[in-house]
Amino acid sequence: MKHASVIGTGSCLPERKLTNFDLEKMVDTSDEWITTRTGIHTRRIAGKGEENYRLATCAAREALAMSGIDAKDIDLIIVATFTPHMMMPSCACFVQAEIGASNAYAYDMNAACAGFLYALDMADKNICSNPDINILVIGSETLSAHVNWQDRNTCILFGDGAGACVVTGGIDGTGIVDSKLCSDGNLWKLLYMHSPKSLNPEIIQEDNNGCHIKMMGRDVFKHAVRAMEEAIVDILERNNLTVNDVDLMIPHQANIRILNKLVERLDVSREKVYINVNKYGNTSAASIPIALDEANRQGKMNRGDLLLFCSFGGGFTWGSMLMRW
Ligand code: ACO
Repeated sequence: MKHASVIGTGSCLPERKLTNFDLEKMVDTSDEWITTRTGIHTRRIAGKGEENYRLATCAAREALAMSGIDAKDIDLIIVATFTPHMMMPSCACFVQAEIGASNAYAYDMNAACAGFLYALDMADKNICSNPDINILVIGSETLSAHVNWQDRNTCILFGDGAGACVVTGGIDGTGIVDSKLCSDGNLWKLLYMHSPKSLNPEIIQEDNNGCHIKMMGRDVFKHAVRAMEEAIVDILERNNLTVNDVDLMIPHQANIRILNKLVERLDVSREKVYINVNKYGNTSAASIPIALDEANRQGKMNRGDLLLFCSFGGGFTWGSMLMRW
């Protein structure tokens, strides 16, 4: 059976860099605190003309150019995001219009930071039943629009950006090998963001004091490490593999301390782990495709390499994925 294989990647980051020193002037924090607790030095913040769908479109164009596929030959566009610039239409429909993918259907999906892996898994399931189709899978976020810039617990963590890839049915043995996706809605209160306030007085959420990210950082940290570790151990075991078989690990870029703990617990060589959280902060669903595109353009993958992805986010949602490049 053919599986989703990546034939082109792209990414797009806003121009403006927000440094830890800039944040020192905005909230009671310091470069030293942010660097030691998170590993983040800068993050990109969207400006005029850099709405979510525009970042997504720019990443999509790069991925299409690399793949050599014409936009008209794209059959499906999936955008993973929880920060679309409009609730309706979807970000994916805007991308479709911008790139002229007139033969595609398009929709968004929200699985927070795990969104890109969920979207890639959905693309794979489509390709398993129809290997000749081409799918654009995008992770794109403008988290800066939903961060409380007075809350030092969260505003230092997040950044904006988009990453994309074009996938199609690859030659046998390449593409997505397996994915393990998980959710636990019982723990939603540890990391969440309200919708805009309800206009129906019967269904008002009492504690909805704004549409921005709220997080119990310590609890999220513990759950994230444990959940990603379990998802990775499980997917490796059920495929009769060990971490030594992995050529490159591309984790969700949330926090360097989460990544360090994961590296330590899995006993994976640090050289095999792609890290760019220092440059972009946590870009949620966009973090894995941005890292994938960077690694690809830096020539870090060879055909046949085994890639391991993992992510964790609000919901909770999390998972791991193996891909033969
Ligand atoms: N600057 C200075 N001090 C701060 C800051 C800041 N930016 N933020 C919090 N503090 C203070 C707190 O107020 C607290 O002070 P207190 O002891 O006087 O009350 C102290 O620092 C310690 O706060 P903690 O929250 O316990 O700090 P912790 O060591 O846990 O680090 C952090 C906080 C970085 C948020 C950490 O918990 C973490 O990384 N959590 C995971 C967050 C994450 O990655 N979330 C995203 C995953 S899901 C997704 O990607 C959406």
